[in-house]
Amino acid sequence: MKKTNIALIGLLMGMATFTNAQTVKSPNGNIAVTFSLTGNGVPTYEMTYKGKTVVKPSHLGLELAKDKHASKGLEETSLMDGFQKTNTKTTTFDETWKPVWGETATIRNHYNELEVDLNQPSSKRNIVIRFRVYDDGMGLRYEFPLQPELNYFVIKDEHTQFAMAGDHTAWWLPGDYDTQEQETQESKLSEIRSRFHDAVNWNNSSVSVFSDTGVQTSLQMKSKDGLYINIHEAACADYATMHLNLDDKNMVFESWLTPDATGMKGFMQTPCETPWRTVMVSDDARDMLSSNLILNLNEPCKLEDTSWIHPTKYCGVWWEMIAGGKSWAYTDEFSSVKLGLTDYAHAKPNGHHPANTANVKKYIDFAAENGLQQVLVEGWNIGWEDWFGHWKDYVFDFVTPYPDFDLKGLNEYAHSKGVKLMMHHETSSSTQNYERHMEEAYNLMNKYGYDAVKTGYVGDIIPRGDHHYSQSMNKHYLYVIKEAAKHHIMVNGHEATRPTGLCRTYPNLVGNESARGTEYEAFGGNDPNHTVILPFTRLQGGPMDYTPGILETQLSTWCNNKSWVHTTLVGQLALYLTMYSPLQMAADLPENYKKYNDAFQFIKDVACDWDDSRYLEAEPARYVTVARKAKGTNNWFIGGKTGLQPHQSIVKLDFLDKGRKYEATIYADAKDADFEKNPKAYTITKRTVKKGDVLKLNEVRGGGFAISVKAL
Ligand code: NOJ
Ligand code: CA
Repeated sequence: MKKTNIALIGLLMGMATFTNAQTVKSPNGNIAVTFSLTGNGVPTYEMTYKGKTVVKPSHLGLELAKDKHASKGLEETSLMDGFQKTNTKTTTFDETWKPVWGETATIRNHYNELEVDLNQPSSKRNIVIRFRVYDDGMGLRYEFPLQPELNYFVIKDEHTQFAMAGDHTAWWLPGDYDTQEQETQESKLSEIRSRFHDAVNWNNSSVSVFSDTGVQTSLQMKSKDGLYINIHEAACADYATMHLNLDDKNMVFESWLTPDATGMKGFMQTPCETPWRTVMVSDDARDMLSSNLILNLNEPCKLEDTSWIHPTKYCGVWWEMIAGGKSWAYTDEFSSVKLGLTDYAHAKPNGHHPANTANVKKYIDFAAENGLQQVLVEGWNIGWEDWFGHWKDYVFDFVTPYPDFDLKGLNEYAHSKGVKLMMHHETSSSTQNYERHMEEAYNLMNKYGYDAVKTGYVGDIIPRGDHHYSQSMNKHYLYVIKEAAKHHIMVNGHEATRPTGLCRTYPNLVGNESARGTEYEAFGGNDPNHTVILPFTRLQGGPMDYTPGILETQLSTWCNNKSWVHTTLVGQLALYLTMYSPLQMAADLPENYKKYNDAFQFIKDVACDWDDSRYLEAEPARYVTVARKAKGTNNWFIGGKTGLQPHQSIVKLDFLDKGRKYEATIYADAKDADFEKNPKAYTITKRTVKKGDVLKLNEVRGGGFAISVKAL
């Protein structure tokens, strides 16, 4: 009798779910997302790909804080349950837009949308949950319309679930409020907890982990039956960066937002919305790399004039400091205060300060001779004596050069050679100090003809207690981008929040670091698999200033550093293709490029803006092969990078024009090359190729290949 009752209730509940459920499919029908209210009016969704479950029924909702800043009397009801549907609407959208810079000349934005309007009678509040379903994934977000009963509110936590259908393999970074400069881990979801402690780079000053099953996004996964699934977010502007916390008994991820100094996750005022929560899926790993879902979920470009924004290849004094142990500071004094802050003229120079006039001139000459457009100079401005680890507020003024750096003369010299200097603003994470000086700093850039700045956020955030990925910090990074745009300045932010496609809306955001870059090759090395994971994870939200091109892989040949680069020399060339960025550094020293002049030719030739890109082969942590057509030309460049395992690439040149001949210059690992034992063994061969030809390329451990294909 009891059994029958339970079965009957189950049947009725099933029917209830069925009757209120609403499904929206992707334009090609492969992806289906179903929304329903379950239990006590709990917003719930699920997602399938070609009939296979990608996301099992998962709850949506937000927990609000009892905070004095919320509108009076309304703060206590969370937006978790007790909802009724008031309206739903489905629409289709299809447009093609042109990015200012990018992997392709045009991007199609084609989706079906489901808008669900919900009312919570107990609080008289309305929210909207919007789903956009593409052929390669979906985005969902919460919207909070302007209304008397929901005006100011404070988010304690967002509870967006992503219930996985199995114990997938995942490529994950430990969840952390302040850094992504970690080595990616490859494990089953069920192994995250036991691997977590060893995965954290406890030496990094900014470590702030929050749970031993917390991971960062973009999170790439692969299911046993061959589905590639990626969770990330798009258009995170006035909101905290999302991490994921795993319930590893049930394989359910839940959003975990970064708090600010108050411990709260979001201070909101209607009308407003959250960023998009994204799930990409395909049975072909290449689709993860060619997807434009994150960009498409961002707003179109908000800058009226973008003529001043340009892809850039650059070099700089950077590697001399990072690898060579030279100094950003002009003196070896323990404090700039001792020097009277601006009184450096009387200070004793330390003699190992590469940002000096003579050395920078050498780099300007090198850039001019080799077609590099800019020279980044770090350590040009006073304050570096107090730079790191002191949590000092007023650390830099961003306008006063050290006495050995001729600001005016060097800019004039660079311009006379058709080169520009690139500005550097290390903020030491003192955001209030940067905002204090920003206008003057950007005016100075305009005065001397700089049009790009590399910013940096090393160390703990000021205002103290805040985190790199909080709502307030995300607003700061966006403020920098908007203010810079007013001055026609491009921005490349290091240690800033991980990108979520905002570069579509503000294309002067030409780069970010937000992951472990080449600098770690000077601090012990990166895992050879690292750069064949990043395109699946970090690069989903926007380009990375990875700073490749270290051809002298053994650092001890020119400096006192025992670290070595964990790729072959040719592997470094491949990164200019496989790590897409409109900003590419030739990061090694000019004298090292002279040593490998024939291989350096590829760095000189390779484009950094593209009309077309074709991902030919891809597997996370194994290999990535891509062919790209240089903007406004008939020339192609092809790059292949492998991880720890050797790989043979079969490249079919079926993308070339019919009837046209091309000269291919092929930079390949020598047969006996090996990233560890023989990294600098390579061959360069030339041959004529045409459409349909097939090239076989052998990539050794940690190696790769690079080909320039010039139309004849
Ligand atoms: C860390 C950055 O990643 C690096 O590129 C820069 O040189 C230093 N901070 C100094 O700003
Ligand atoms: Ca860094």
